[in-house]
Amino acid sequence: MRTVTTASAMQRLAKRWQRGRVRVGFVPTMGFLHAGHLSLVRRARQLVGPHGRVVLSIYVNPLQFAPTEDLSAYPRDFERDAKLCRSEGVDVIFAPGPEEMYPAEPGAAFSTVVVEEQLSKLMEGESRPTHFRGVTTVVAKLFNLVLPEIAVFGAKDFQQAAIIRRMVRDLNFPVKVVVAPTRREQDGLAMSSRNKYLDESQRQQALVLSRALRQAQERVRKGAPASAAQLRAETAALVALAPQARLDYVAFFDPETLAPMQEVRPGVQMALAVFVGRTRLIDNVKL
Ligand code: PAF
Repeated sequence: MRTVTTASAMQRLAKRWQRGRVRVGFVPTMGFLHAGHLSLVRRARQLVGPHGRVVLSIYVNPLQFAPTEDLSAYPRDFERDAKLCRSEGVDVIFAPGPEEMYPAEPGAAFSTVVVEEQLSKLMEGESRPTHFRGVTTVVAKLFNLVLPEIAVFGAKDFQQAAIIRRMVRDLNFPVKVVVAPTRREQDGLAMSSRNKYLDESQRQQALVLSRALRQAQERVRKGAPASAAQLRAETAALVALAPQARLDYVAFFDPETLAPMQEVRPGVQMALAVFVGRTRLIDNVKL
């Protein structure tokens, strides 16, 4: 396994692979890896085969954090990540420094961004208006540096995956976007690097997310179609039972277009964001 830290070295290597017709699978991450990330690595390996290359990037992208968010606190542990990658058969870790991705030369600083203008305005975009432009910009740059045939994203970030798919289609990136299922702890909590912020009591209270999804799922699968307003109220009531939890949003939408649905039937996607203490967690499920 190699670690590449400069954009130019990564692109050189990727071009060499391209010339040699080597298949490349890519897993973009912000590091502090957990079993969810490793399942994406396994999916990438499965897709490119034993002779392909699997690249995992580790980059805590400043452009997708608002000034009030947790950029400086975001958990980092490169040595641990590298060990996990080695044991999963990753070929290359691409871990660029901040200056590599966003040159800050006086008078010639980085000034180009990629903006998806529809899907990124909904849900997460309402709460975090600058988040997705950071994500699409860095993912576009990473695609240009790693030149993957396949990129694997996690379904926990459902809206992110939809936006990246749209960007790939709209800008003709020759990349196949694959979305792999959310990995959960045994008690149902979706795996996330941010779970590390939770103390013991908050960790218990964080279960309101998966409980709310399950409650709605059972309700919709059992009975007549429910209204989004009704399900929203039931979700809010459940979240309110956890003293340190605060519902940011809950949404019911078409999984392809992300268009909000007023009448909720099986097959509609539900997503929610909840602050538990100061930690903002997201989760989603198909009802
Ligand atoms: O999902 C993430 O970890 C990040 O948003 C991504 C896709 C690596 C871009 O920084």
